[in-house]
Amino acid sequence: MNLSSTLKLNNGVDIPLLGLGVFKSKEGDEAYNAVRYAIEAGYKHIDTAAVYGNEVSVGKAIKDSGIKREGIFITTKLWNDSQRQGNQYEAFEESLERLGVDYVDLYLIHWPVKGKYVESWKVLERIYKEGRARSVGVSNFHIHHLEDVFAASDLVPAVNQVECHPWLTNIEIADYCQKRGIIFEPWSPLGTGLLLEDETLKNIAQKYNKTTAQLILKWGLQRGFINIPKSAHKDRIIQNAQIFDFTITDSDMAEIFKLNINKRTGADPETFTF
Ligand code: A2P
Repeated sequence: MNLSSTLKLNNGVDIPLLGLGVFKSKEGDEAYNAVRYAIEAGYKHIDTAAVYGNEVSVGKAIKDSGIKREGIFITTKLWNDSQRQGNQYEAFEESLERLGVDYVDLYLIHWPVKGKYVESWKVLERIYKEGRARSVGVSNFHIHHLEDVFAASDLVPAVNQVECHPWLTNIEIADYCQKRGIIFEPWSPLGTGLLLEDETLKNIAQKYNKTTAQLILKWGLQRGFINIPKSAHKDRIIQNAQIFDFTITDSDMAEIFKLNINKRTGADPETFTF
């Protein structure tokens, strides 16, 4: 396993195991440089969203890096306002335009906006059938949201991107997704950085001569997940990719699972208000 390793989505498309997250990386130099550092370090996967406001910098950095379009897996996401306004298709086209590409590899519904997400899924189905997104999926969907999608559509989401880390192990949703061929993709795998101060994780990481961030990311990989840690710093972007040269033992995996306290660092998909 290495930075080029992939998992197969349920439609046969390969998704690289490790990607760079750019949530909160500012449009302009910050997002641009983060993507350039990542591609230089060998990352083949970038995860952005319309609401991050940095699609222009992300697209420019990918282009300037000289990597072929097919050499990089690009994810972006449909924002909630576009679902409420019913202009999902136009929002997708605007994302393509900002990114400067004519297709994305993965397009996600960012949050399950009440009364709208099934309609949005139908639009993603159209986008997928037209070949403008190589795969489509969802984010922040709980089991009942996914069941609503299954009831309305034969197209199974390729991915569900949900907050998940050692304080929020999300076993039930992850198992549900894995049984139905939906790749589980944790967001904020480092708990927005808060988990890096956890003493148990620090101690376990030391045993492997790895940083706490590397330990947490490897725990996600060993669960069979895609990892998309965010960093705007070159040294951390490089560090977060150096996770393919060690294996966490079963007993340490179990110790990490024990840290679960169902603690979120972001919004709850049942109660979000944005
Ligand atoms: P920064 O962008 O300043 O490097 P998550 O992906 O869970 O949301 O975590 C992202 C947060 O963790 C960001 O604040 C990021 O800060 C920080 N971070 C990412 N990688 C590392 C690392 N290897 N060591 C320390 N902090 C990190």
